[in-house]
Order: sequence, then structure tokens, then C-alpha cells
Amino acid sequence: MFYNCKDTAVFSYNNHAALLYFKYFFRIYMHIIKASDDLSNYLNSIRTDNPKVTIGFVPTMGALHAGHASLVEASITKSDITVCSIFVNPTQFGEMADLEKYPKPIEKDIDLLIKHGCDVLFLPKYEDVYPKEYVQQEFDLMGIDHKIEGASRPGHFQGVCNVLYRFFKIVAPDEAYFGQKDFQQTVVANRLAALIDSPPKIVIVPIKRELSGLAMSSRNIRLSDKGRNNAAFIYKALTDLVSDLNEMSLVDALKKAKQFIEAQKGARIDYFVAVDIETLEEITSLDECDSAALLTVIEYEGVRLLDNIILKPRE
Ligand code: PAJ
Repeated sequence: MFYNCKDTAVFSYNNHAALLYFKYFFRIYMHIIKASDDLSNYLNSIRTDNPKVTIGFVPTMGALHAGHASLVEASITKSDITVCSIFVNPTQFGEMADLEKYPKPIEKDIDLLIKHGCDVLFLPKYEDVYPKEYVQQEFDLMGIDHKIEGASRPGHFQGVCNVLYRFFKIVAPDEAYFGQKDFQQTVVANRLAALIDSPPKIVIVPIKRELSGLAMSSRNIRLSDKGRNNAAFIYKALTDLVSDLNEMSLVDALKKAKQFIEAQKGARIDYFVAVDIETLEEITSLDECDSAALLTVIEYEGVRLLDNIILKPRE
């Protein structure tokens, strides 16, 4: 249940219900702030009144589901104030069509955030995040941005870093929460934190899964009902692989898992790789590195389904 590593931590949030009740009892409602100056001023006034206040930040692109909610809950339990942003960041999209198609169910998102006790929703416009004078930066991600997911999405992780860099400046959070679901993004966020002044602590929250084991994603609604049930084969492949490692080599376990996936009608492996968690270099044996994960994208019913599992946790 817990996955702890050097500079990240995962919580169990067993007093979330009590916090929600407290907020409801004292009529503490969510603020919706659209301008970045308004948000900075608001948070600074809170910091002036109480210098010890801690601020947790959950960046999202909206179309929220229980996976996003788990990040909000983790932040609420740990931090005094939780700020969630909804901003569909154009700089991380390769195709304009994907950007335009991105779902924007804002009323539903607001309801979900209120229900989970979020304190502030930051809902900026493009000009607020990227004012005219802002020049897109190229961060030294040590090549992580060109590997695996980055190989088929040139510029994607630089776009993610630029938006996070701007958000970290505006919100100045103590902690920023990311889902393990987007594993490579968590590695990139940690690298960004190492490059900038006054970074937040990067907190990684475990993958929230449907009952079947399928990792929750806003893309899952594009699967047919049958497909959504069947797609549980991805998690099965990952968990079977972990148990197979007790009996066989990583190479053999990978081969077996890939054969299992390829035998599923309509499934196509985009990538299915074991990597060193630090460098995201592909590995063929767990002895090659201190910590390892299996990262995968499977295309199923035309939907790219991302998933991963830790093979060897950080000490
Ligand atoms: P988005 O896809 O909206 O995801 C926001 C956060 O929710 C990410 O940290 C993601 O890993 C997490 N998340 C999504 N599904 C999850 C699940 N099933 N379990 C746990 N966490 C889950 O990722 C982005 O937005 C953007 O790249 C962003 C970081 C906001 C920058 O624009």
C-alpha cells in the first residue's frame, strides 16, 4: 500500500472523512480563482497571517475522476490548504486536434472537487499561465524527455515542465501531488524540482484502479463496456509478471507477459519495458539497478492505455 522513495512519500489518508465533516460544519467552501495575480495575492495573505501554513498543489487538466480525487485527498490530509488547477496546457500537446478534443466537463469537475474538500480551484486562462513576456524554456531533463512516452510525443515533457514551472511560481506550494499512473511524468517532475529555486516536495500517489484492476483514466470512457471489463488483462499481465519474477529471469517474465498480451484480441503493445526508475534506461535484469519499474502502453479498441508497476522499490 505504501511506496516510499528518497524524495517522495505516499500516505494513507484515513482522516479525510473527518476533515470533510469539519469543512462542511464550518461552511468552508471552495474558492474559484481565475487570475494568477489574484491567486498569488490570496495565498500570500494567508501566509502573512499564518507563516506556518502549508500549501498542497494538485495540477490537472480537468475531466476529473477518482484518480484525480485521490491526489486531492492526499493533499488535504497532509497540507493545510489544497489548491487544484484545471488547465488544458497547449504546450504539451503535439496535435492541435487532440487539444481541441480534450473534454471540459467543468461543472462536474467543480462538484467533484467540492465533494472531496478542495480549498481553491485555480482556473486560469492561457494568458495568465503564459503572459506575453514568458519565453518557453528548455529544461535539462537529461534525456528523460526523449525516452519511452517522450519518444512518440516530441516536446511533450518540455511542455509539462513549462506549465509546472509557471504553476510553481504562481502557487509556491510546499508539496505538489502527482499520480504514479503517469510514471515518467513523476520522474520529470522530480528532475524539474532539482533544477529550479524553491521547488515543492514532489509527492507520488499510487494508481487508483477500477474494481477490475484497470487503471482509472479519462480515456476509459472511450472503451466499450465489454472492452472496459476485458482491459483488466493489462493489470493481470503486470501482477503476474511480478509473481513470475520469483521463478524466472526478467527477460523470460517479460517474454511471457508480452505473449499473454498479444494473445488478447484487439490488443497491441505500444511499449512494455522494464526500466531503471532513476534514469528510465531499459534494463534486462533487476541486478542492473537499485530500483525498477515496468512501464507500458497498450492500445486496445483504439485507446492508448497507460499503466505501470514497481518491480524493485527504492530502498
Ligand atoms: P491529468 O492527465 O489531468 O492528470 C493530473 C494528475 O492526475 C496526474 O498527476 C496524473 O498522474 C493523476 N492521475 C490520473 N489518473 C490517475 C489514477 N488512476 N490514479 C492516480 N493518479 C492519477 O497529468 C496531467 O494532467 C498534466 O500533464 C499536468 C501535470 C496537469 C500538466 O499539465
